[in-house]
Amino acid sequence: MALLEVRNLVKEYDGKTVLAGVDLDLEEGQVKVVMGPSGCGKSTLLRCLNRLIDPTSGQVIFRGEDVTRPDTDVRALRQRIGFVFQHFALYRHLTALENVTLGLRKLRHMPAREANEKAMHELRRMNMHEHADKYPAQLSGGQKQRVAIARALAMDPAVLFFDEPTSALDPLMSREIVAVINQLYLDNVTMLCVTHDLFLAKYISDRVLFLDEGRVRAEGGADQMFSDHDDPRIRAFFGHGPQDR
Ligand SMILES: Nc1ncnc2c1ncn2[C@@H]1O[C@H](COP(=O)(O)OP(=O)(O)OP(=O)(O)O)[C@@H](O)[C@H]1O
Ligand SMILES: [Mg+2]
Repeated sequence: MALLEVRNLVKEYDGKTVLAGVDLDLEEGQVKVVMGPSGCGKSTLLRCLNRLIDPTSGQVIFRGEDVTRPDTDVRALRQRIGFVFQHFALYRHLTALENVTLGLRKLRHMPAREANEKAMHELRRMNMHEHADKYPAQLSGGQKQRVAIARALAMDPAVLFFDEPTSALDPLMSREIVAVINQLYLDNVTMLCVTHDLFLAKYISDRVLFLDEGRVRAEGGADQMFSDHDDPRIRAFFGHGPQDR
């Protein structure tokens, strides 16, 4: 059974269809990357899957349970899904360590000492343990993103979602984050990642999905998707359109 099964997911805003029937499966230990033109609904898709927003229709089945049902425990669901955003979303008034322990203490009710140990373990995994007592303002963008990933991992999520984790970073810091996420990939962490970054997509994914006009238009290995694809729209998107020939 897939960890996540998405069936015919539709999202409309004021009568405008953004997701027009998305189907997607994510197996345990699998990493899929979602790419596609700006505004095609990538962020909307991630937000529907963890019920930050409500889909208009369709099903999201998480470990066999339909989590679009009205009686779903949405808070419990969100605790099972780690979410890493483009702009890190760290609390400015908390240190790196406190940012990571917050969820453990407030949501998991973990005693302080245990929470600190768990948080330090995740910060070490991200090679951020030496910066545990720094505030976000004292950290580079790449370091902030590593704290945000440590924070998500600390909750032992079943899956990690990323929404453009490298797009607020300069090329050097992006590479640093690609390396970190690649390590998670090698550790078999289940991930669903939205990105425009071809380098990230290539190094962290089993499969790349191309979302276009509200549907998954194609799915394949990164090499297959980025090189001379049969579909002219995909070829054009990845820079192999007629203009390059
Ligand atoms: N709360 C909202 N109300 C109305 N329309 C919205 C809302 N959120 C998003 N949209 C619209 O839905 C469409 C998809 O937006 P979304 O942010 O999911 O795209 P995206 O693929 O993530 O784009 P990008 O690559 O630029 O991040 C856009 O046309 C956007 O304007
Ligand atoms: Mg987006």
